[in-house]
Order: sequence, then C-alpha cells, then structure tokens
Amino acid sequence: MWLLTFAQMIPAKTVQEVIEATRIEDVVGEFVTLRRRGINLLGLCPFHGEKTPSFNVNPSKNIFKCFGCGKAGDAITFLREHESMTFDDAIRWLARKNNIEIKEVERTPQQMLEQQLVDSLFIINDFGAKHFSDQLFETDEGKSVALAYFQLRGLREDTIRRFGLGYAPEHRDLLLQRAKKEGYSLDLLKQTGLCNQDANRDFFRARVMFSIHNLSGKVAAFAGRTMSKEKTIPKYINSPETPIYVKNKILYGLFQAKNAIRKQDDCILVEGYMDVISLAQAGIENVVASSGTSLTEGQLQLIKRNTENLTILYDGDGAGIKAALRGLDLALEQDLNVRIALLPDGHDPDSYVQEKGAEEMLSFIDKNKKDFILFKTNLLLEETKGDPIKKAGLIKDIVGSISRIPDPIKRSVYLKECAALLNVDEGALVTETNKNITGSLKKSSDKEARSGGAASDSGWDGSPNPEIPVEDPAFKVPQRPSGSGAAKGIVQERDIIRILILFGGHLLPEGVTVGQYILTDIEDSLSSFDEAIYGRIAQECHQLLAAGGNFDANYFIRHEAADVRNLAIDLMTAPWEYSTNWEDKVGLPLQNQPKPDLNFEADMRYAVDMFKFNKLRKMCDIVNPARIKQAMESNDYELLTYYLSVQMKIKEALTLIAKKRNIVVIPT
Ligand code: CTP
Ligand code: MN
Repeated sequence: MWLLTFAQMIPAKTVQEVIEATRIEDVVGEFVTLRRRGINLLGLCPFHGEKTPSFNVNPSKNIFKCFGCGKAGDAITFLREHESMTFDDAIRWLARKNNIEIKEVERTPQQMLEQQLVDSLFIINDFGAKHFSDQLFETDEGKSVALAYFQLRGLREDTIRRFGLGYAPEHRDLLLQRAKKEGYSLDLLKQTGLCNQDANRDFFRARVMFSIHNLSGKVAAFAGRTMSKEKTIPKYINSPETPIYVKNKILYGLFQAKNAIRKQDDCILVEGYMDVISLAQAGIENVVASSGTSLTEGQLQLIKRNTENLTILYDGDGAGIKAALRGLDLALEQDLNVRIALLPDGHDPDSYVQEKGAEEMLSFIDKNKKDFILFKTNLLLEETKGDPIKKAGLIKDIVGSISRIPDPIKRSVYLKECAALLNVDEGALVTETNKNITGSLKKSSDKEARSGGAASDSGWDGSPNPEIPVEDPAFKVPQRPSGSGAAKGIVQERDIIRILILFGGHLLPEGVTVGQYILTDIEDSLSSFDEAIYGRIAQECHQLLAAGGNFDANYFIRHEAADVRNLAIDLMTAPWEYSTNWEDKVGLPLQNQPKPDLNFEADMRYAVDMFKFNKLRKMCDIVNPARIKQAMESNDYELLTYYLSVQMKIKEALTLIAKKRNIVVIPT
C-alpha cells in the first residue's frame, strides 16, 4: 500500500485549497508558545536563540516574521524551515490538520520510475551504513583497528554514531556477500557505487567510513579514509555521483549543523570531514565542509537559506588561502557576508580544537577573522608591492569581486575601503565597478530578452549605477524648517485618527476591520506620534483591540477625557477636508472624489501610506550624513555599515510608497 503513495501527486487545486484553509497561528502554535499582543501573536523565535520574544505571527496577513533574525514567511515556509518538510509534505500535513482530503493524481510512469530509483538507492545506502557501523562496533577487528583509530583521533562514541562513521575491513567482497544474502539488488548496489561494475568486489576496503547525509538526514553517499600513511594510496575515496548524490548540491555536515547555523546566524566553513566532526564534538556545531573543493553556487544557496554570514576557517598554508579565494566571488554573488580566519601554520581546525579546546578555537576565530574583500585586497597588495602593472591587474581583480555584490550599500562601503587601501581614487573605482555592472546587467537582460523573461527587478531602482547613498541628494537629511515639517506630519496623524474614529469598525475585504488594518500596519510607530492626543487615541485603540474589544465613533463621543470627546465631535461634524496632497498626488480633481464615507477604504490606505511616509522621512534624521561622515572618519566600519544599511532600508521603504503614490521625493 505504501508503494502507492510514490505514484501519487497532489493536484494544484488541492494545494490551493489547503493554503487558503491554513491559519498561520494554528500552525506555528503547534511548535511555539504564542501569546496575544495586539492584533498579532508573539513568541520566542524558534529559528534563533533569544530571551525576549521578537517572533511575530500576523493572523490577518497569515504570515510570521521574526524581528530578531529576520526569518519570515507563511505556514508552508515555516514547516519547511522548522520541520525540514518538503513542499508536498507540508501540504499533506496542513491538509490533515484542516481535514481536507487529498485525492492524489497519478504521476507519469517516468516520474514513478525516478522516484522508485531514488527510494531504492537510499535503502541500499542505509544497508551500507548499517554494514559499516556493524563492522566498526560489532567486530573484533573493527574495534581494535578502526574504533581505536577514531578514538586516537579524539572522537567519542556518541560523535561517531551521530555522524554515522563506520569501517570497511580489508576484504574483497564482505559487503557484497552480505547484500546477496539479504537479497539486495546487485544492480542497485552497482549504481550506488558500493561495488564495482562486475559486482564481484567492494568499492570501499580497508578504510574508515564517513556517511554523507543529505538535508533530511538520509545517507546520500560515503567517503572512506585510509588509515595507512602510504603516500601512493589516495587518502579519501568517495561514492560516485548518483541521482541521490549530486555533489554540488550537498554540503558535508549541513544536516547536523543546520539548527546551530540558524541559532548562531553564522556558518563556519572548513575543508575536511574530520574538521566538521571535531568542531561539532567540541560544541561548535555550526560547521560544514567544502570537502576540499571550492564551493558551488548550489552549496552556497544551501548556506544562504540558513544564514547570510559565512566564516571561512582554513589552514594558513598557501593551498588553504587559494582554495578560499576561489570560493569568494560566488559567495559574494549570493550576497553572503564573507569573513575569513586562517589558522596558524601546521594546524587544521580539527587539530587545533583537539589540542586547545573550543573556547580557544572560538576566541581565535573571533580575533583573527577578517572581512574577505579587505583580506583579499591586502593579500594581493603584498604580492604586487611596487609593481604598477601588477597593481593595475590587482585593481581589476578586486573591482571584479566588488561588482558581484548585489547590495549597493555594501558595494559602496567596500569601494571606499579598498580605494583607501590601494591608495587610488575612489571615483575611479566606482566608474570601473559601474562598467562591470552595466556590462553584466546588459548581458543578463540580453539573455532574458532571448529567453522571453521579464527584466530583473533586483537592481537599485532599476538603475545599474551603484550610487553611493551618502551622496544621494534626495536623501540628505531633510532639514525642513521645523514649523512646516512638523505641521505636515500632524496632518497625516490627524488623518489616521479621523479614519480610526469614523470608520474603525468597518470591515475590509481582507476580513479585518479598518482599525485592525491601520493599527497592525503602523504598530511600530504607535509611540512616535508628534501630537500627544493623537498618540493617546492610537494607543488606546490598539489596547482595545488587543483585549478583544472594539470601538466606533460613539465610543469616542462618550469618552471620559474631554479633549478626546471634543476631537471626536470635531472630526465627525467638520466638513470633510481632503488631505492637502490628495489632488496633486493622486491626480484626480476633488469634485470627482467620492464622498469620504463612501471612499473610506481607499482613503484609509492612502492615509496609512502618507503617515508612514512621513515617519520614515523623520527617521532619516537618525542616520544623518554628519554621523555617517564621523563614522567614516573614525574608521568605524561596523557603525558605518549599520548606518548605511538603515539608511538604505528607509530609502527602500520610502521609494516603495513614493512609487505607489506617485510622490516625487524632493531634495531638501
Ligand atoms: N579530500 C578528498 N580526497 C582526497 C583528499 C582530500 O576528497 N584525496 C577532501 C576530503 O573531503 C577531506 C578534505 O578534502 O576531508 C580535506 O582534506 P585533508 O585536509 O587532507 O583531510 P582531513 O579532512 O583533514 O582529514 P585528516 O584530518 O584525517 O587528514
Ligand atoms: Mn585534518
């Protein structure tokens, strides 16, 4: 019966139905203790370690977001990330939860065959892993030779079991014999690479064995290490590529490291199997191995799904450095923050941690890790000392790396830093970078045009120019005369309060009330109203909703505070004024506007946007150019990056509203 499920597929219609029936709070609530806070629910984030809750669940938008680590998404994302479910498994889980029956449709015979092969290969590998483990733990030879070897290398039994280590004795066909006896298909055995093509000899012999797991913890392949010091014997041999072992999509150790990587928000990259295992045993669990090759794009994407921070921990020898440099550009393209720490000569992470312990390892990394681009710049600078031609090549190389960084803020910071390091004009570097980016953008848009796809939307305002935000005139601090600026902001605040009081209980098409919509949307700004009375009303509305209550105009007319009563009456009886910007921004003449009570919905969305726009412009003051300049002059790189990224976030949010509302952002 269970074989049948392989032949099935969930129809798209059911997927839709399940998604629509799913309530985010019910799903997350099964894994995280949530308590109500306003319209949202709040809990401790399951994706990173925290003591005060910043994990938000928003039932009206059906999404979750952690304001600590930034993880966000819908119920399916949650199940995929938190429970490592596949998309289909998540849908099945949700369907069961919501009592939706899934009538699966047939897969094509081709799909069925592929799925069957995949499942069979995993079964064979399970058998292999069991065999190697039995040889290690259950035989005298295994115990005296292989287990002793692992112990000599400082591994504990729990570690050996956790990483699925084993032993393949020096015997021509021990595994084959057992496979035959237990009825495993020799053809499949050949396909996994556990025996040769004639099926008369085991592939792994006289080696200690490492299981290589895929993301869900299934054994995808093996590596075997010789215990001999004989130089002519290859140190490691590996399973061949198979449908379940696509080398550039598997990272050694990721299955065991995944949760720790998320919690630490950092992934440590080492070279070897033993490095991963030793560090993990010592309690440094956020470690994966590149297995001696440079990382592929697929592997980097696997990292990126868990963190944006990559710390490369390699041997300090020439080979280690070269290997690290090779991976750099691809990592930059994935927008990973790459840092590097090189170990003292003669050490690899395994030997270092075994000798000195986890604490010293961590403090070594902390003290020695360098930003990768600056590291590369310095390194190459050493090599090209005094040779102008070599230096020109170096500049091209560095600019090439910087051009690959998708984030314009980071690009501009690096250009500044590298210009100083290389002692060249920053403007020249910017021009070079722009040329690179324009070139590659053109290439990719040509490619997209050929393939009929839409142009990518990931650029900075669609423009290929990595403008340096510090010098962007539109975002110099808005030094408005205090009177007009403040007054303008207060108009927006009054608008929000007017709509809350007049229409707060009205239901919107998304199934929430106007009050819920507004207060959810401006929740972060509740304490930053300029006009005290507006702020008080907003907070009170928020508390009312949080307590499960409600409010309407009558509530305010009968309010215990006289000033609130008066304001409510004012707002209700005053002939309604359109916001000052309405006519020119929306481009509709006033006469054509529907009456406010007919138009509260559009009116409300506009008011919320304008309110936010105003608060955002105010926030620009927090990161004014004077501070940025100061951070730059005092070489406070961290602070500078912080300011610039805050500034960019504000600018992005502003641009979004400005575009939507067709507002021109005027230099002030
Ligand atoms: N490697 C390989 N084949 C080899 C040598 C190395 O696949 N012939 C890969 C393995 O993934 C290995 C990694 O490169 O883990 C790093 O190589 P190395 O530093 O030589 O091995 P270690 O993992 O440090 O192993 P050990 O500490 O046991 O020497
Ligand atoms: Mn080693």
